[in-house]
Amino acid sequence: MDIIVAGGHGKIGIRLLRLLASQGHRARGIIRKPEQAADLEAAGAEAIVCDLEHEDPRPHLGRADAIVFAAGAGPGSGPERKRTVDYGAAVKLIEAAGELGIPRYLMISSMGTDDIEHADERMRPYLQAKADADAELRASGLDWTIVHPGSLTDDPGTGRVAIAPKLEWGEVPRDDVAAVLAECLQAPNAVRAEFDLVSGETPIPEAVRAVAPG
Ligand SMILES: NC(=O)c1ccc[n+]([C@@H]2O[C@H](COP(=O)([O-])OP(=O)(O)OC[C@H]3O[C@@H](n4cnc5c(N)ncnc54)[C@H](OP(=O)(O)O)[C@@H]3O)[C@@H](O)[C@H]2O)c1
Repeated sequence: MDIIVAGGHGKIGIRLLRLLASQGHRARGIIRKPEQAADLEAAGAEAIVCDLEHEDPRPHLGRADAIVFAAGAGPGSGPERKRTVDYGAAVKLIEAAGELGIPRYLMISSMGTDDIEHADERMRPYLQAKADADAELRASGLDWTIVHPGSLTDDPGTGRVAIAPKLEWGEVPRDDVAAVLAECLQAPNAVRAEFDLVSGETPIPEAVRAVAPG
């Protein structure tokens, strides 16, 4: 497969690119800083340089089999960048996928997008941006999967997770999120499915095989 990962130099993004390249896929990562390209190449991936807030991604992409949205404004950013990245960049790529005939789109959303009202006030702009981007993706006609991970950690992956429509809040290593996304790309049952994701006891291939479209 030819897979484009937005946020290609992000912590999940580069893990996913490395994994996809090791599986023999063409792995391309969108970055906005050209100096990050060497790290992607070292991971076996290709760099697409495009600032998703300020540029039209379409001329940079061409055909592909799937887009994975792993970009994000990050914890140091204010509400405005939640709208321009977590919502705006995700939607630009949804529209680009539709126009370019890229059929598959995987979204890294977040746990908590279903109960924004009760979230910490500082989290609300982020969760609202994520929820709005998820809604655009569901309505897009693309073959989508929306993954709602809990709190991300840099602990080594265990290869074991819990996946369900609704889970108690928990942590999950970025390694395991990347492995779940790679598995979803191979899983027809994950199309038009969305689920919470935290660390657990079930091996990742088995957990993804049990996903049911919503
Ligand atoms: N932290 C958590 O606990 C948590 C929980 C659930 C879900 N999530 C979500 O999980 C996803 C991945 O998380 P992560 O920790 O791997 O993210 P990360 O390391 O912060 O990576 C985000 C990437 O997005 C890129 N980006 C920002 N603005 C961009 C723009 N205008 N154009 C192109 N790229 C841009 C950043 O590039 P630069 O290097 O140029 O800034 C960075 O590489 C995010 O969507 C995040 O919201 C996080």
